[in-house]
Amino acid sequence: MQFKELNIITPILRALEKLNYTVPTSIQEQAIPPILGGSDLLGCAQTGTGKTAAFAVPTLQLLSKRSCPQGAQRKIRSLILTPTRELGIQTYESFRAYGQYTGLRCGVIFGGVSQKPQELMLQKGIDILVATPGRLCDLMNQKLIDLQAVEIFVLDEADRMLDMGFIHDVKKVIAKMPANKQTLLFSATMPPEISSMADSMLIHPVKISVTPSAPAVEAIEQFVYFVDKENKRKLLLHVLEDKSIASILVFTRTKHGADRVVRELTRANISAQAIHGGKSQNSRQQALNNFKNRATRVLVATDIAARGIDIDELSLVVNYDLPNIPETYVHRIGRTGRAGLSGTAISFCDFDEKAYLADIEKLVGKRITAIKENPCPLLHTEPLPNNTVPIRRPAQKAAAKRPDRKSPSHQAQVGQKRHSKKQILKISGEVKSPSTRPRSARP
Ligand SMILES: Nc1ncnc2c1ncn2[C@@H]1O[C@H](COP(=O)(O)OP(=O)(O)OP(=O)(O)O)[C@@H](O)[C@H]1O
Ligand SMILES: [Mg+2]
Repeated sequence: MQFKELNIITPILRALEKLNYTVPTSIQEQAIPPILGGSDLLGCAQTGTGKTAAFAVPTLQLLSKRSCPQGAQRKIRSLILTPTRELGIQTYESFRAYGQYTGLRCGVIFGGVSQKPQELMLQKGIDILVATPGRLCDLMNQKLIDLQAVEIFVLDEADRMLDMGFIHDVKKVIAKMPANKQTLLFSATMPPEISSMADSMLIHPVKISVTPSAPAVEAIEQFVYFVDKENKRKLLLHVLEDKSIASILVFTRTKHGADRVVRELTRANISAQAIHGGKSQNSRQQALNNFKNRATRVLVATDIAARGIDIDELSLVVNYDLPNIPETYVHRIGRTGRAGLSGTAISFCDFDEKAYLADIEKLVGKRITAIKENPCPLLHTEPLPNNTVPIRRPAQKAAAKRPDRKSPSHQAQVGQKRHSKKQILKISGEVKSPSTRPRSARP
């Protein structure tokens, strides 16, 4: 199928052609027609499969068809919420790119930067606003934003936006919008406990779930090293010895952990920068841009970079620490293997993290291959005395609390190209059992 068969208007088709989008991805093919028909929609599709265009293209089309009278002040007619500032900027850029010939005006607001330029932008009038919830609520409280004309409301990374960290702000925002708007929810994951919340927001929705039984992209090869916590640094240097890997995204659990890894890599003459909630917005953006431009080889990130961020041809993701929320793993590794490309994800699993690995394997529906040729194999077979791993949040189970999440006010298939990366993975072929300890003894 071609985009033109989806009845996309010429100005948007022109932009898509310019971006070399010819064939719609599965989620785009399935979601665009019902959205154009005015339905509420819940769209679940794997990471990197083009969910942004799946909501942005029909939103732009609906708004440009119902354009406001000439000379009248523009009102916000579509609001898109994203969990992080960086994803907000990226989504805004996508709207600008897809909508470049429509004459519609987009804007983005997020925290950690001066409010003044954002105020001026809002005063001038825009049709589409991309926002992070914290700054949006701040501006709403100051009566600087009017959402009364919103026709299309989008929650990207919907399961994240509806969990404990954001739901409070999201509810406040919804209360300020008309009840009869069109609501679109998109994500690669949708845990059952969030799914009912999502349902309550939608009216007679169309539900699309592409590959529901395989939340992680098949083109991402997933491996695990079993290693002691104190040897992870050494193991990372071993992985980075393969100079053919141009860009590596490393995830750590904490900001301090991220800074520590950067220091250690810098000491080893490997160019690395950190991105996390403890950095200024300026240095966060700089770190991400340097990584995207290949000025730095390694970006060490907390989960603020786990969702939605699109980095061209990123071939390797390393989980220096395993996340205690299995869906987070799916989003982290989904920074590679995007738009039909292949990718590799390697996780470092210490003894205390084995239970997380079990939860992750349950969610992704397969065993993750253990790398046997390991310079620092796991020696500890008991929990460390001062173990500080967060509480486990098993896959597919309701959780009263997600301990690793903070309030947002405190933080912020297509072309074909293969990456070379297997050089670093001298796999012996056998799959190692993820845990030898009984379930009840796990943290
Ligand atoms: N139809 C298309 N043809 C070619 N490239 C596309 C198409 N749709 C999207 N892309 C590209 O695919 C990449 C991934 O798109 P996008 O970021 O929207 O994925 P996503 O599904 O939102 O992923 P995530 O779950 O990680 O947020 C982007 O680089 C985008 O430009
Ligand atoms: Mg996305």
